[in-house]
Amino acid sequence: MAQRKFIDDWKRTHSCGDLRGADVGKQVVLFGWVQARRNLGGCVFVDLRDREGLTQVVFDPSTEPRDLSVDGSETIAQAVAIAEQIRPEWVIGIRGVVVSRGENLNRNRPTGEIEVRVLEAEIFNQAETPPFEIVDDLDTREELRLQYRYLDLRRRPMQQIFRLRHQMNQTARRYLSDQGCLELETPFMVKYTPGGARNFLVPSRHAAGKFYALAESPQLFKQLFMVAGFDRYFQIVKCFRDEDFRLDRQPEFTQVDIELSFVNQDDVFALVEGLMFEIVQQTRGIDLREKYPEGRFPRMTFEESMQRFGNDKPDLRFGMEHTDITDLIIAHQGGGVPFFAEIANRFENGTLRRDIPGEIVKVMSVSAEAKLSRKDLDEMEKMAQSMGAKGLARAKVGANGEWTQTALKTATVELRQAIHERTGAKEGDLLLFQFGKAALAHTVLANLRLHLGKKMGHIPAFGHGGKLEFLWVVNPPMFEADEQTGGWVAAHHAFTRPHDDHIAIVESDPAKVLCYRYDLVLNGFEVGGGSIRLHDPVVQRAVFRTLGIDEEQAEEKFGFLLKALRHGAPPHGGMAIGWDRVAMLLSETESLRDVIPFPKTQRGADPMTDAPSALDDEQLAELRLCVMPQKN
Ligand code: AMO
Repeated sequence: MAQRKFIDDWKRTHSCGDLRGADVGKQVVLFGWVQARRNLGGCVFVDLRDREGLTQVVFDPSTEPRDLSVDGSETIAQAVAIAEQIRPEWVIGIRGVVVSRGENLNRNRPTGEIEVRVLEAEIFNQAETPPFEIVDDLDTREELRLQYRYLDLRRRPMQQIFRLRHQMNQTARRYLSDQGCLELETPFMVKYTPGGARNFLVPSRHAAGKFYALAESPQLFKQLFMVAGFDRYFQIVKCFRDEDFRLDRQPEFTQVDIELSFVNQDDVFALVEGLMFEIVQQTRGIDLREKYPEGRFPRMTFEESMQRFGNDKPDLRFGMEHTDITDLIIAHQGGGVPFFAEIANRFENGTLRRDIPGEIVKVMSVSAEAKLSRKDLDEMEKMAQSMGAKGLARAKVGANGEWTQTALKTATVELRQAIHERTGAKEGDLLLFQFGKAALAHTVLANLRLHLGKKMGHIPAFGHGGKLEFLWVVNPPMFEADEQTGGWVAAHHAFTRPHDDHIAIVESDPAKVLCYRYDLVLNGFEVGGGSIRLHDPVVQRAVFRTLGIDEEQAEEKFGFLLKALRHGAPPHGGMAIGWDRVAMLLSETESLRDVIPFPKTQRGADPMTDAPSALDDEQLAELRLCVMPQKN
């Protein structure tokens, strides 16, 4: 009989993770990569790997086919000769017989009960020596991993992450489709619209000198789907934002984008909660109903979140909350502390004098368990200063409620008591104060809270520590004061619907207007955001007037959306979930780069392909572009 060929004649019978004791005696064909090869007294042992696992295959020159109850004068000698040559990461195929490893079993491997005695083998391809070993615990520079990402992705932990992402996508598609959402696509190359995230721009060759923007999200188009009557939409979609880098940001990232007609905020929440329950169940086997029996995530207003945690994405895995004591400072007229008195003087009848921008006094009580050294405190003070704070006032609560180790020694008994009562501080606890502009005081204490959370082990170095704390942050302000112009800007975007009972004050008292915008937070990360949209042209015009945008400017900036909204827009709203962030949290990895197959580095580069790269003069000329010299 002519020799049969692998792949054409010998088809793969099993993966390298399949075989168990029950398969002993079977003739099998396996394909894969050489993980390791050992030569023990002429017998070659190879660990063969594919995405499902590892199987030990043995090339034994002393074996004859009949020993394995197989017919034929086989080519074992040829197979052994092949085994002598192969090296790690070569790609091979083998045919052999499954035998038991008896006492020699490897308990650390699902296939550890068996090995495959090889009858025949073929080398499909050789491989260069890899720049790092393909092992689970790899200790090498990330830059090198990214440069050889295809090798990095061969590693089991990476394979597991991308399987998890596959499950996330399949689950989301099934769930959202069952909920009546249609999966529809939107363009990536869109018209540049000002505001929002900074766009990447794509020069047009046909209309040289003009540019497309890469869509920062499908926002406007998904609203047009609602105008078009598709009723419910979703998309697993790439978004592009030319932002500064952080561990939880990438210039191109994936959203699960959703838009629904004829819904209110509760309807959007119910849909997204159902999705998150499914995703967590399918990927991690965790039933969120044990924690949230009603099937709902808790909600907190933006205001409360700022007061208690100093930011709008609180990590609820631990306490260490902040307390606003501005009213106490005012009531006690500074309570004997000169710079508190200065702040108290800025208020008249409990409200800030109009000529002074919003200032507050906040305190965070840190339990004695933190055992902070002098050095820790100095380091924290430096952190506060690097964020723009003047310093970090602190006081340790003594046995009789006195304050020690502090510059606030002059504080009156009454003020101290009032603060202890409000914060629940006990003997040995440390009080950390921030006063001044609200935004800065919130940020400084929020960051110190996270710093201490890590230091005290409330936040594991990475991973969720078995805790998944979801939270909706709701009812943020619609407008923010623009310090530069003294006017108002949209805190999110101009198409968010104000609360019904605030519509009347959109123009007269913008600071008080709250809106139907919401964020979904998981363990201190914003994993999603959305809003109920403003579909009413009358209110829309009032919002534009508050933002100082006249009709002409509005048409110029948002013309096509405004036009569409005049053609019968249903009430609608939606949300986008930051899919990479969810993947990062569920796979307990440290950075978004771990959950994106081909991510960009901190500097926006791809070390494997060397993007971004320069264009030659001819290409630039075709696009009518010229590159300016770098500014010094
Ligand atoms: P938003 O801008 O809040 O909303 O984005 C939604 C979610 O996307 C994630 N995200 C990012 N993830 C990785 N890298 C980035 N650079 C990045 N930027 C955002 C976050 C965020 O919560 N069109 C609206 C949604 C809507 O209103 O329906 C939007 O894009 O997890």
